[in-house]
Formats: sequence, structure tokens, C-alpha cells
Amino acid sequence: MYNRTRRLRASQGIRRLVQETKLSVDDLIYPLFIEEGTQIETEIPSMPGIKRYSLDTISKELDEVVELNIPAVLLFGIPSKKDDEGTETWNDQGIMQQAIRFIKKNYPDLYVITDVCFCEYTSHGHCGIIHDNDVDNDATLMNIAKQVVSHAKAGVDMVAPSGMMDGTIQVIREALDNTGFVNLPVMAYSVKYASAFYGPFRDAADSAPTFGDRRTYQMDPANRDEGMREATFDDQEGADILMVKPALSYLDIIRDLKNGFDRPIACYNVSGEYAMIKAAAEKGWIDGERVMMESLLSMKRAGADIIITYFAKEVARILSNNT
Ligand code: PBG
Ligand code: ZN
Repeated sequence: MYNRTRRLRASQGIRRLVQETKLSVDDLIYPLFIEEGTQIETEIPSMPGIKRYSLDTISKELDEVVELNIPAVLLFGIPSKKDDEGTETWNDQGIMQQAIRFIKKNYPDLYVITDVCFCEYTSHGHCGIIHDNDVDNDATLMNIAKQVVSHAKAGVDMVAPSGMMDGTIQVIREALDNTGFVNLPVMAYSVKYASAFYGPFRDAADSAPTFGDRRTYQMDPANRDEGMREATFDDQEGADILMVKPALSYLDIIRDLKNGFDRPIACYNVSGEYAMIKAAAEKGWIDGERVMMESLLSMKRAGADIIITYFAKEVARILSNNT
């Protein structure tokens, strides 16, 4: 036998030298749920360790994120009032806008990204305006433009539209460029599937649709070629970063995008993926920490440059102990 692959596995030293993929704290984005009100610190039962905070309680969480050297946070707003259109999303005094100003003022080096959508803000829980029992694409685009400009004026560093409306990136790019925000980047939720893995998030963000589902705008999990088409349009419309969501069940799509586009690729390790690992670990059925690291490593190996994950603080802690 000339070829023995085990030669390069024989000791920690050689394993370190030939390791192809490495996780780094630099890859991580930590999602935060920010609720309008005061004195809020609400546990999310299906997401152990993750809470909803109001702005007067969130500092200890932000202190930790900065202390752990996590570069970025992704904000989700939970408003105190909802309506048909989600008009609070473009209120300059809304919860997202307040949160952006608060974080940029007190943590100027923390990179702030906002999720741009309507489902937390609409009374029906869909990601846009409803006409004839479905989300009206082009009417929703007008409101997306208002929302991003309002986030931009509040000082956000990057916007991440998650609603899967056609033409979103172009409309956002034009709105930002016309208001002087030419250097504000857009991370597109390009390939976002209609997934059951979002279950815990919808409890956390109070964003479950009150009727129907999201299958007329989010993608069919069976489709791979269509993912390329979605990413192609976002790429052509000028998206700066392309995202795949969820992550674990869609590693093939992450690799497709990595090979197909000359843009940084992000993936979203979603709430259900987090909940499954936490639950099995709690039962003692898996080693939660190792399964977490292995899962995130697989996303990197698949081609993700950036990972949005509720595990960010835990991973950062482990990585900093290793160095
Ligand atoms: C809203 C949105 C969702 C997630 C991020 N933005 C849920 C949905 O589409 O229903 C999911 C995040 C997660 O599950 O962690 N557009
Ligand atoms: Zn939405």
C-alpha cells in the first residue's frame, strides 16, 4: 500500500497542519430580539439561552457580545403595535430605529445589521401587504424602500431584507442611492426556503402568519436550480452578500452559491436547528457542544464565509479558550 491516508491523521500536530476548514469568531453574526417597552427580559422556551430584551435591559447582552469580539449583530424588532401594512417599520421613532441609534451610540464598533421585513409588524403576520389573500409583491416593495431609508437614517451599517419579494434588492439599492447611502451594503436573504425550521423563531419574534403559509414567496425545499436563479437576480441587482437559509439542510445550496458567485456567502443557522441541538443535549442524547461545533464547521466547509447563529456567544467562548 503506497497510499495511507492515516499518515496525516496520526497526531494533533499533523492534524492541525492539514486541517482545511477553520471556524473563526470573525465569521459570526449574533441575532438579537429587541422588544418595545421596558424591563423586558423574556426567555424563549424553545431557544434556551436566547431572550427578548427591551433597550433598557439589553446592555449586558451587548457587553458580552463585544467582550467576546463578535463582529456583528442582526436585529429583529418586536413592536408594541401592529397593523395591516406594518407601518411601524418605517417609523423613525420605531423600535428598530431606536435600537440602531442606541447600539451605534454606546457600542460604535459593533457592526449593526437589521432584518428588513414586515411579519413582526403586520397584524396578519405575513411579510408584506395582503391583497386578495396573498402578499402583493410590488406594493410591498414601496414599503420596503421606506423601511430601509428609515433604518439608514438611524445609522444602520447593513440591511438584510428577508421577505423574498421579487425585485427587493434593486428597489433597496435605488432607495439608498437616492438618499445618499451609496456605501450602505445589502445582505440578501437570496435563497430562503419555506421551512419548518423557523418554528421557534416565530414564537420568539411573534411573527407567525395568522392564515395560510409563506409558500407563495419563500422557496420550495425541493428546488436547487431555482436557488441559483434567485441568487443570480440578487447578484445582478447589486446585493453585496448572498445568504442561504436555513443552513444545515441546505449545505448543497451553500456550495452552489460559493462556486457560482463572486460574492461573500452567508448562511443562517436558524432557530429550529438551534433548538434541536439544545433539546437533544439537554436530554443527554448528544454532546451539544461538539455537535454545535461540527454543525457550524460543516457550514464553513460547504462554503459559507459568514454564519448567522444563536450559538455565536458559545462558539466565541470556545474559540477564545483554544487560542
Ligand atoms: C422573517 C424571518 C424569519 C426568520 C428570519 N427572518 C422567519 C420566517 O420567515 O418566518 C427565521 C429565523 C430563524 O428561524 O432563526 N422574515
Ligand atoms: Zn418576514
